[in-house]
Amino acid sequence: MEKLKTKYLGLTLRSPLVVSSSRLTSTIDRLKEAEDNGAGAVVLKSLFEEQISYYIKSVPSSYGFPEADDYIANYTRSHSVDEYLDLIHNAKKNLRIPVIPSINCYTSEGWTGFAKNISEAGADAIEINVFVMPVDRKKSSTETEKIYFDLIGKLKNVIKIPIALKIGFKFSNVLYMIDQFYMRGIEGIVMFNRFYEPDIDINKMEIIPASVFSKDNERRYVLRWIAMASAQNIKIDISASTGVHSGDDAIRYLLAGANTAQVCSVLYNKGIQYLKTMNKQIGEWMDQKRP
Ligand SMILES: Cc1cc2nc3c(=O)[nH]c(=O)nc-3n(C[C@H](O)[C@H](O)[C@H](O)COP(=O)(O)O)c2cc1C
Repeated sequence: MEKLKTKYLGLTLRSPLVVSSSRLTSTIDRLKEAEDNGAGAVVLKSLFEEQISYYIKSVPSSYGFPEADDYIANYTRSHSVDEYLDLIHNAKKNLRIPVIPSINCYTSEGWTGFAKNISEAGADAIEINVFVMPVDRKKSSTETEKIYFDLIGKLKNVIKIPIALKIGFKFSNVLYMIDQFYMRGIEGIVMFNRFYEPDIDINKMEIIPASVFSKDNERRYVLRWIAMASAQNIKIDISASTGVHSGDDAIRYLLAGANTAQVCSVLYNKGIQYLKTMNKQIGEWMDQKRP
């Protein structure tokens, strides 16, 4: 594995393959399985902004006399936040590879101080999955972009570990945004998040979710933008996400300039042990190219 070593977010990874945030990274057993099969790092399943906000609000009310329903709702949510902090502690205790928790958010309001708890739980770095859906036709793209910048400002005030932003590609100018993230001290970007899109069942005339798993042909636009971003020569790490279905796919992204390649759908389809095959494919390619 020595030759597969890479650097990401200031961390040394034994392999460029990172298991991306999903239910595959939600329990210690699965995280161990990822490590045992050669993952370079793991990004824990995301904690959602809503969960954190409820948690924060629930702290003072739990000392009063809340309505029973509120109490149960708050308990459930705060419990999941505590469980998440436990998951980080346990992952750090049981794994040797870097552990990167993830927060999924859409505003910079109210919750960012909590991110400190996560970094203090022993995480090596943090991934922030941020997506602001521009649903207001009166709001300019500049206003939407400001939400990202405000968020970064608040996070950088409280978080001392490296931050990777997991972004979508639908900005007016992705390269401008990446440059701004870099100027504001962000250490890495994950290109890209894959959103769950709706579809329509024309027989039932119902809205249904499109496949949650990626397809091969989704790789092309990611490849283009990773190449464009890495050509900017700015010191921000890039982690490729979407469509890494084999060791060869990971190599394509690395050649385009990514530091790491995140893997999700293929592990759902072929099992976590497929990481071993992918590492082998990368190693064999390296031997072939540089004997
Ligand atoms: C079942 C499932 C759950 C996911 N949950 C999360 C999540 O909690 N947070 C997140 O940032 N991404 C989540 N993702 C997105 C993946 O991390 C990844 O970015 C996306 O699936 C594209 O990678 P792939 O082509 O290797 O599947 C999830 C994906 C799947 C399939």
